[in-house]
This record gives sequence, C-alpha cells and structure tokens, in this order.
Amino acid sequence: MNILILGSGGREHAFAWKLAQSQLCDRLYIAPGNAGTASVGTNIPISYNDFEAVAETIIKNDIELVIVGPEEPLVNGIVDYIESRSDLSKIKIIGPNKAGAQLEGSKDYSKNFMQKHGIPTASSRTFTIEDLAIGLEYLETLPLPIVLKADGLAAGKGVIIAEKHKDAEQAFTEMLVDGKFGSAGSKVVVEQFLKGIELSVFVLCDGENYKILPEAKDYKRIGENDTGLNTGGMGAVSPVIFADANFLRKVEEKVVKPTLRGLKSEGIKYVGFIFIGLMNIKGEPFVIEYNVRMGDPETEVVLPRIQSDFAMLMAATAKGNLNDFDLKISPQVAVTTVLVAGGYPGEYEKGKVISGSDKTEDVHVYHAGTTFNGNAETVTNGGRVMALTGVANSLENAVRKSQRAAQVIQYDGKYFRHDIGMDLIRYND
Ligand code: AMP
Ligand code: GLY
Repeated sequence: MNILILGSGGREHAFAWKLAQSQLCDRLYIAPGNAGTASVGTNIPISYNDFEAVAETIIKNDIELVIVGPEEPLVNGIVDYIESRSDLSKIKIIGPNKAGAQLEGSKDYSKNFMQKHGIPTASSRTFTIEDLAIGLEYLETLPLPIVLKADGLAAGKGVIIAEKHKDAEQAFTEMLVDGKFGSAGSKVVVEQFLKGIELSVFVLCDGENYKILPEAKDYKRIGENDTGLNTGGMGAVSPVIFADANFLRKVEEKVVKPTLRGLKSEGIKYVGFIFIGLMNIKGEPFVIEYNVRMGDPETEVVLPRIQSDFAMLMAATAKGNLNDFDLKISPQVAVTTVLVAGGYPGEYEKGKVISGSDKTEDVHVYHAGTTFNGNAETVTNGGRVMALTGVANSLENAVRKSQRAAQVIQYDGKYFRHDIGMDLIRYND
C-alpha cells in the first residue's frame, strides 16, 4: 500500500516513522514534510491546502491511503473534495469530512453539540456583533476569570482567559468589533472557567467502531512551571499518572460514547482521530475542546507506545474493521521535550544550522520545523524545531533521556523547557 501523509510537523514525522516500520507500507510520501520525514519517505513540495495538487499527487504516485495530519484541510473539506472526484473513488482517507471537522472548526458548533448530547463541559453563551451590548453586560455579571473563545480556527491563539472584567470586555470588543482573528472571531463563545488538571484522550474512529489510544498531557506555556505565553506545545507525557483506570472509564462512558452516538445521530460518518481536551475536576471529566486530528507534540509520545502495526491500524480504520483489531499498547512511559527557535512563540529566525542529531542516544528524534539549506545541511524552518522522545520503564528515566538529547542537539537560539514531566514526578494523589 502506498501512503500519503499531509503535514509537516513532529506529528507527521512520528506518523511517517511508525508507518515506515510496517510491511504493509510500500511507498511513503509526505506533503510537504520536513527534513526528518525525508529520511523515512519522499517529501512532495506542495501545500496541503491545495486540494488539486493533493489529488494530482495521489494519482501520480498510486496512493491508496491518505492520512491528514493538521486540522486546516479537514475544516476546509479535503475529505469531501476527494470523495467528490470520481477518479479518486478508491482512495481511503483518515480524517473526518467537513461536517465532522466542525467539532474543531467551530467552538459554537462543538458547544451546542456537547449540550445537545449531554457531554459534560463548561457552561457557555455565544455572541455576535449584533448582541455586543448584551454580551458586554453579561460579562459584567460573570465571576473571574472569564474564558473567551473565537469561534473559528485561530492557529491556537483564539482562547483568552481574562483575569479582570476590563480585560474580558476589551478582548470581546477586539474580536467582535475590530476583527482580531478575522472571521474566526465573528462569533465569540464566553465560557465558565474550569479549575482542574488538564489531559488529552485520543480516539480513533472508523465510522462505526472506535479504539481509545494512550492519553497524554501537554505543556502549553513557553516558560517553566507553566508561565508565559501559550505555544503549540512544549512537551508531552504519556501515560498520565492522574488519569487512572476509573477516570478513563468515566471518560469512555460520559464523553467518548456520547460523542460518537451524537455524531451518528447528526448523520456524520466520522473516520479519523478525535482529540478530546479534558479537565479532570475532582475525578470527573469535562470537555474543554475537541480537535479532529492528533495532537502535536502528543503524537510524539502516543505513537511510541503503540506496539501494533500502525499501517494495519490505519487500514483497519479505513475499512471499518477496528472492532477486529487487537490494539497493543506498551506500559512504558514516553516523554517528549520540544526544542524551539529563540523568540518563539513571538518572532523568530529560521535557517539556523542544526547539529548533534547523530550524537543523541536512546531517544526518538522527531523533526518539526526543519528543512535543508542549499548546502544540504539541516536547518531550522519553524518555531517548534524538534521533539525528542525518551521511552523508559519509569517517568524519571524517560525525562532523563529526553532532556539529555535536548542538551546534545545544537543550533543558534535553541530554547526548551527543563521541567517537562517534573510535575508528574512530584504528583501524588
Ligand atoms: P483550547 O484552544 O480550547 O484548547 O484552549 C486553550 C487552553 O485554554 C486549554 O488548553 C486550556 O488550558 C485553557 N482553557 C480553555 N477553556 C477553558 C476553560 N473553560 N476553563 C479553563 N481553562 C480553559
Ligand atoms: N498540542 C496541542 C494541539 O495539538 O492542539
């Protein structure tokens, strides 16, 4: 089977690395990919938002299976596009159609979905510019902090947690009146603040059946001890110590099953990943958000724990055979530390030569923002540069392996957090 992965991050390198181990995978393509994916497959320099170019790539390379990494093409309807082309009718694609992708593409849609299908979540109200005055009055009545969310995709920047009423009113006005976040902010969801511990659960769906993949915890803030600006993710750990079997059972019964029943009752055949962002509040799960894809860097700790053949798992998903699939998960702990460019998540430079990857030991090196320069050297090409995953029998050892590699790899302006997983080492019930 020839497989095409769409995307260019650490998530896609982890997918490519895992698929390349399978007997079932003949040729592997990544569009556009990065310097890391080039070592396990063939990069195709096209944009995944250019659906015609994707279709051409599929035809030219006899692709049978497409795995969509990021949310943007899904929300823009890449699955519907491929399904609409009679010349691509045999292509299997892992990712939901446009209707399913609304779970991530519209916060208003996903809040309504959760309320309608009895899925525990923070209470909320949605406002547009027509209700500006009512909205501002409503904000006054809310306890602090106040959570404001732009309805549409905003590259992970659309959530504001205001500590003062004045800040909430300002952010609300900026989104609705001044067009901050563009059309993504033309609706604003105002939500109750949930206090608890966050983690993510991943579900793989074949349209009928599902498998729950290993859960993970992400470290979103740029600074140590969870300080400073939000990022795409500075590290991740799997498994998550505070998500015990009892909690995960509640997640399955109160969140996963009602979500899949809800999708079905909305007439949505969902094939692909659902990433459920959860708050654990005194042992009870509440949904913060849905994403319609795997997380990054969560994939870089989830995939190393999957012992089953990943191409077979993807093929079973595409064929609707997940119920017959024996998913094997390693009990080991995986910890990833993300190396970023100096200045990230603000302005940063690209093109810094990366060295030391060949000197790392006993660690998975997943490339994210990397490419080759004119001298065929590997250079930085994004804010998040690499994710370094240590796998071990204990959290301490997995942290040590990941951190050691983070010291060894070098480039100008390198920054990473030294405390990934440390809170979980200290955690006790
Ligand atoms: P999202 O883009 O929905 O993942 O939100 C980004 C981050 O904001 C989440 O990962 C949480 O840390 C935080 N967040 C979102 N909604 C809430 C909420 N209702 N209560 C507390 N924190 C939240
Ligand atoms: N790490 C968070 C995300 O992938 O959305």
